[in-house]
Amino acid sequence: MSGGGESPVRAARTPVSQMLGIGAIASVLGVIAALLIDWFPTAASEQAGPIDTLWDVLLIASVPVFVLVVTIVLYSAFRFRMRPGEELADGPPIHGNTRLEIIWTAIPAILLVALCSYAYVVLTDIEDAKANSLPVRVVGEQFTWTFYYQGEDGQEVASNQLYLPIDRPVNFTVQSKDVLHDFWVPAFRMKIDAVRGIDTKLRVTPNRLGTYPVVCAELCGLGHAAMRQNAHVVSPDEFDQWLSDRPSGAGPTASAGGSEGGGGEPADGKTIFTGDQGRCGSCHTLDDAGTTATVGPDLDEVVPDLSKDEIRTSIEDPDAEITDGYTPGIMPQNFKETLGEDGVTALVDYLSEVTKR
Ligand code: CUA
Repeated sequence: MSGGGESPVRAARTPVSQMLGIGAIASVLGVIAALLIDWFPTAASEQAGPIDTLWDVLLIASVPVFVLVVTIVLYSAFRFRMRPGEELADGPPIHGNTRLEIIWTAIPAILLVALCSYAYVVLTDIEDAKANSLPVRVVGEQFTWTFYYQGEDGQEVASNQLYLPIDRPVNFTVQSKDVLHDFWVPAFRMKIDAVRGIDTKLRVTPNRLGTYPVVCAELCGLGHAAMRQNAHVVSPDEFDQWLSDRPSGAGPTASAGGSEGGGGEPADGKTIFTGDQGRCGSCHTLDDAGTTATVGPDLDEVVPDLSKDEIRTSIEDPDAEITDGYTPGIMPQNFKETLGEDGVTALVDYLSEVTKR
């Protein structure tokens, strides 16, 4: 190049400030867009507020970094692209710039340490042990959750629905019978792996009445997507009533399905089938219940050939006999425990009644 020593420097300064200007505006727009997005479902626990704030802070810190990098890459690729005849116009390569290297090492390091410290403080703080905690044991298996409470007589009470009294800290102990699962109630914002052989812990204080999905957040096999149940946050009275209505050791009497919960209603086979208790319709087709799922055998097809005893066995011990073409291990093995004797009987009676040919 024949130009003087100054002109390349001046030529470079304008693009840099232009680039940073564009980057700054794009960063602001990016942060605004990120904060406007409704990332999470309704918050239903005391832990949700600090988690959501943490998330917002992470967005505010990380979106500008991302946007700035993308802006510089795109701008440079466009502005400094090589035109025909410029193949040798680059000049000698520049090597090393101590000040720049210190800056681009220090800034990310400070950002990371600050954000990690903040996250650590928030996460330890919200899981502080609290007095009067309700202990609940959560057991994951392919493909269902079972929730165990301490009954009044000291015996454990099993349920396949999670009932929690509002405003009382809950101390979950999470376990797995087989593979990795992950216990997650998005509305509570908290989740933790269920690992065979160890107990993992999770603390939550529900603070909003309602029914919220319980999800498995770890790919655990074919039925992973069906591993969904409900968490019902109810008043303390309603909770006590619900708990004392369940026979300990054996399993619950079936309460009304759907989102109403509560109440010691007598077991009704159809309600068990379609409601939260059994959720049979999420895998099985049954004309009378109006369900059309095909994960498990079509009950209108297979049940008419079964005696009541055989129907019972296929509910209580589903892998004892597998219909041709279906995979063992998909159907939950805990119905005997969670529906109880009466619940299974009601379900058997219902199934044999509505499938009569
Ligand atoms: Cu259990 Cu996915």
